[in-house]
Amino acid sequence: MTVILGRYLKNFFFVCLGFDKKEFMPSPGSYIEQHRDRLVQELLQLLQLPSVSADPAFSQDVLETAGAVAQSLVHAGCENVEVCDTSGYPIVYGEKILDPQLPTVLVYGHYDVQPPDPLELWDSPPFEPVIRETETHPEGAIFARGACDDKGQFYMHVKAVEYMIRENELPCNVKFMIEGEEEVGSVSLGEFVKANREKLANDIILISDTGMIAKDVPSITTGLRGLSYAEVTVTGANRDLHSGLYGGAVANPINVLAKMIASLHDADNHITIPGFYDRVQELSRKERDLMAEAPFDLEAYKKALDIDAVYGEKGYVTNERNAIRPTLDVNGIWGGYTGEGAKTVIPSKAHAKISMRLVPHQDWQEIMQLFREHFERIAPPGVRVSVKPHHGGEPYVTPIDHIGYQAASKAFEATFGKTPVPQRGGGSIPILALFERELKSKIILMGFGLDSDAIHSPNEHFGVWNYLKGIETIPYFYKYFTELSAGK
Ligand code: BES
Ligand code: MN
Ligand code: MN
Repeated sequence: MTVILGRYLKNFFFVCLGFDKKEFMPSPGSYIEQHRDRLVQELLQLLQLPSVSADPAFSQDVLETAGAVAQSLVHAGCENVEVCDTSGYPIVYGEKILDPQLPTVLVYGHYDVQPPDPLELWDSPPFEPVIRETETHPEGAIFARGACDDKGQFYMHVKAVEYMIRENELPCNVKFMIEGEEEVGSVSLGEFVKANREKLANDIILISDTGMIAKDVPSITTGLRGLSYAEVTVTGANRDLHSGLYGGAVANPINVLAKMIASLHDADNHITIPGFYDRVQELSRKERDLMAEAPFDLEAYKKALDIDAVYGEKGYVTNERNAIRPTLDVNGIWGGYTGEGAKTVIPSKAHAKISMRLVPHQDWQEIMQLFREHFERIAPPGVRVSVKPHHGGEPYVTPIDHIGYQAASKAFEATFGKTPVPQRGGGSIPILALFERELKSKIILMGFGLDSDAIHSPNEHFGVWNYLKGIETIPYFYKYFTELSAGK
């Protein structure tokens, strides 16, 4: 109530004096300057909690993190903050409703993180955050698992809302929904959303869990790929065998698996699974030309990865291969003897984890079925094959003619002085299509991470500059979205 009153009084004051309120909006920049150390220190604390959702050994830490996120929402000034139980890890909810007549922004993010392995490749422990300068981040970057994906990024929203509430600058309603299972496929979230449509009702869903092209090239992600993830096992004989006694006479499951995997791409790196491309929509030349306008330096890309050539599907350039084309990749392969020295053995089993990134209109369950049938069909006599589906998710494309996109674009213009570039992303946030279907609203992907921030890799980091720039930019989204919603 006081907030609403405060806002109206302020408007009234400005109207009386004949000022345009916009010009007198205290810039988030000064709040950030004033609270800089605290804003960074609080994130460092959150990053100390090892909220690894994939590994049950961390389950207490994941739960503790949910509590810490709830606390941060309370501290920011949110109301009705809840740690909502699910059959998996809890979803943290909080809201600040000023007036039901005003538009509502729903912020989604995730407080769980990827496993930090391999630990020996980290320059500092993954859950002991430190700030170090890098070439890309001379202002310093925060090194920790989750720094960019997604603790650092969802926390920008918590802090931006804190600023808006405290400074009486929140122009509309806000709701938070921060989950703890994104990195394992958002297993419980679908059910939660379906059961809480009323509570989650909103006019736009705002997410920072993607990246931007460069620090001086802001971008808005306009689509993400879907995912089908399977684990395969090839079984030969009923026990590991002496490779001299049996070698050459029975199938070696590792040799067979390697051959089967190799056959999944042809010489042009097209995927060979029958029907795989049936629903893939070719982008028009015009759309592809537009994509090609996004700044991209192939030499710098190769240099950053220390590779002498890029590799991929014939007929497509790098930025198409990693965004608008579907892929099939082996994520892990194992079997047989991998210890010290040599052991002469033909293993009984070989395994691989295989993921397929999908583009609009491909259905992850259908693709899983096509993969399974194909993989079983190409198995030679002498082995048995099993395919175990893991998780999946639908691709998602956002409209660029929506007021949400325009609001985001104006927000970036306000703080970067540049119009952001629309860009399709290659990663996945599998729950997006369900959000749109169940909540009937559009999604804006406003990311502040960089590809070089090493998400999911050792030495993940997030630039302090990017973090603060996010906190600065987000309030402008609220301002412009509210204005555009009112038809201004
Ligand atoms: N935040 C990422 C997705 C992402 C990152 C999209 C950068 C675009 C740019 C998300 O946390 C993620 O890692 N998703 C997983 C899927 C999930 C089911 C494990 C992915 O893309 O592999
Ligand atoms: Mn993420
Ligand atoms: Mn991730």
